[in-house]
Amino acid sequence: MAGTRKPVAVLVSGNGTNLQALIDAAKVDSYPARIAVVISNVAGVRALQRAADAGIPTVTIPHGDYPDRALFEQALLDAMAPHGVEIVCLAGFMRVLTRRFLRDFPGPVLNVHPALLPAFPGLHAVRQALDYGAKLTGCTVHFVDEGTDTGPVVAQVAVPVLDSDDEAALSARIQAQEHWVYPLALRLVAEGRAMTNGRRVWSGGGPRTEGLSIRNPG
Ligand code: GAR
Repeated sequence: MAGTRKPVAVLVSGNGTNLQALIDAAKVDSYPARIAVVISNVAGVRALQRAADAGIPTVTIPHGDYPDRALFEQALLDAMAPHGVEIVCLAGFMRVLTRRFLRDFPGPVLNVHPALLPAFPGLHAVRQALDYGAKLTGCTVHFVDEGTDTGPVVAQVAVPVLDSDDEAALSARIQAQEHWVYPLALRLVAEGRAMTNGRRVWSGGGPRTEGLSIRNPG
């Protein structure tokens, strides 16, 4: 599989637990993607250390160093180019990518969001769910489009909200689900099995087709 594994850039801003899950998944030779570069818009974050520990090249591109979004995004594209990146995964990357980036990067861009979209998009999704009084929330892996958390859904996992939950407790249970469903979604995309028809995404072909009917395993 080594020669055919799709090179992935993971864009991060913080702790990098989802990055770690992707790194761990990609350690298995049969996994169809490899993490080619990790790019952070924030210096010194834990995610960069996780990448360095795994021997993955890192680049820090502080968004504040750029006078506008176009130049910041061009710097992201320039950092990805030497690595032949074919898929971008946003993993706690707290900047919205513009139409220009999505036009100039020809491959799929994935994001993980800590809510069952279209509920609770944007910032503080877990707090939004608690404040609303939702009984069920979860996480979503979706293709990125020009909106904020509006792209076609690849996979979702539901997580119940417990009466005892605060933001930290609920976030931790949601993240535990993100850590298996994001690598699964990336696998489907890297294998070319995440087919889209307008908004609907389904997994086509292969022995793991049923893997897209995601539910909370426990
Ligand atoms: C994740 O829970 C992810 O869903 C969320 O940030 C966290 C990053 O954690 N993303 C968003 O809220 C994007 N709107 P991590 O750095 O430990 O992977």
